[in-house]
Amino acid sequence: MFRTQLLRHAARAVRASSSPVKARAVPTPLLSQTTRRSFMMTAQKDQKGKKTNEEPELEHEGSFARTDSSVQVEYPAEGELPSSTPVQGRGGAHLKRTLATYSLEGRVGVVTGGARGLGLVMSQAMVISGADVAIVDLNKEEAEKQAVELMASFRKENPEATNVPLVTAHYADVSSPESVEAVIADIIKQHGKIDNLVTSAGFTENFEAINYPIDRVRKLWGVNVDGTYLFAIAVAKHLMARKEPGSMVFVGSMSGSIVNVPQPQAPYNAAKAAVRHLAASLAVEWAHAGIRVNCISPGYMLTALTKKILDDNPELKNQWTSLIPQGKMGNPEDLMGPVTFLLSDASSYVTGADLRVDGGYTVT
Ligand SMILES: NC(=O)c1ccc[n+]([C@@H]2O[C@H](COP(=O)([O-])OP(=O)(O)OC[C@H]3O[C@@H](n4cnc5c(N)ncnc54)[C@H](O)[C@@H]3O)[C@@H](O)[C@H]2O)c1
Repeated sequence: MFRTQLLRHAARAVRASSSPVKARAVPTPLLSQTTRRSFMMTAQKDQKGKKTNEEPELEHEGSFARTDSSVQVEYPAEGELPSSTPVQGRGGAHLKRTLATYSLEGRVGVVTGGARGLGLVMSQAMVISGADVAIVDLNKEEAEKQAVELMASFRKENPEATNVPLVTAHYADVSSPESVEAVIADIIKQHGKIDNLVTSAGFTENFEAINYPIDRVRKLWGVNVDGTYLFAIAVAKHLMARKEPGSMVFVGSMSGSIVNVPQPQAPYNAAKAAVRHLAASLAVEWAHAGIRVNCISPGYMLTALTKKILDDNPELKNQWTSLIPQGKMGNPEDLMGPVTFLLSDASSYVTGADLRVDGGYTVT
């Protein structure tokens, strides 16, 4: 099973490959009968059962399915990432028929990490669908700028609209309980209530595990896991106190279900597996209160951060896309439909699910 899967990956990589990295990692003879056999050969044993003349390790063996410790990426400092721009041309009034249950009108949604990247695009999807949105981010200045942009973009695309969604910006460090408590109080003060939550604050880094500084690992888990947990608890308490239903979407990653190659990122993968299972566990715990909790697991998406990683390591892009059945990375706006669906009443019987938005990566 594993061998078949590996050969399938390798075959796709060879077809897609023209880059030096893949030429090195997956030489064409990998697919010859001789080499296929070498995958199946077992080591010779002497009479005592000890290994004697093992098949000599070939350069290609396992190489395509392994991590490469030379790929190292630190999450960049705040000033190094450019702003994201709101999506244009998706939010105008239209006359196409669709289900009314997809609307988020009358809802207030909180989006952590909403100042940039996937969080910003999902905030915009919520605004286009009629929700008021509170953007929460470490970078309040950027959140303020984008809140203004989202409302301006809504007005521009809906010149007849009399009711423009309210978008506010708030500072919080999602990994700090005090900060989360303070921002929830601030949001309720400004919006009156919270109905929906999207937890997009998170980041990834690449270090081989044995050299990953533990303080960086703790920070990564703090933002990705504690940050999701703290917000979920705070919003659930608020909903239970109001005796109102709600819907939450945690942003996981396909890395919570598979192990990416070649970049090593064990703590991130483990964090995203935790996020996915936290969504399932809380979905069960809060079903009685009408609170739905689901996870969206994106694959490789083209955001400012991934663009920077690919600029620094151009050979990675071919390697990544060769493993995606759709043959391309996703655009942040590919999350607009999934997040709207999961937050809205269109998904009222969906809870504890993990919706993978990965171009088919995880099914091969
Ligand atoms: N980009 C991808 O390909 C991809 C794929 C799968 C999953 N994801 C996940 O999607 C989420 C968003 O990723 P992105 O690519 O949009 O990243 P991004 O860096 O563009 O945006 C993340 C935002 O979170 C904010 N943030 C970081 N730490 C914070 C903290 N402690 N408190 C509050 N805000 C904080 C940042 O300021 C930033 O605005 C992350 O959880 C990431 O792991 C991304």
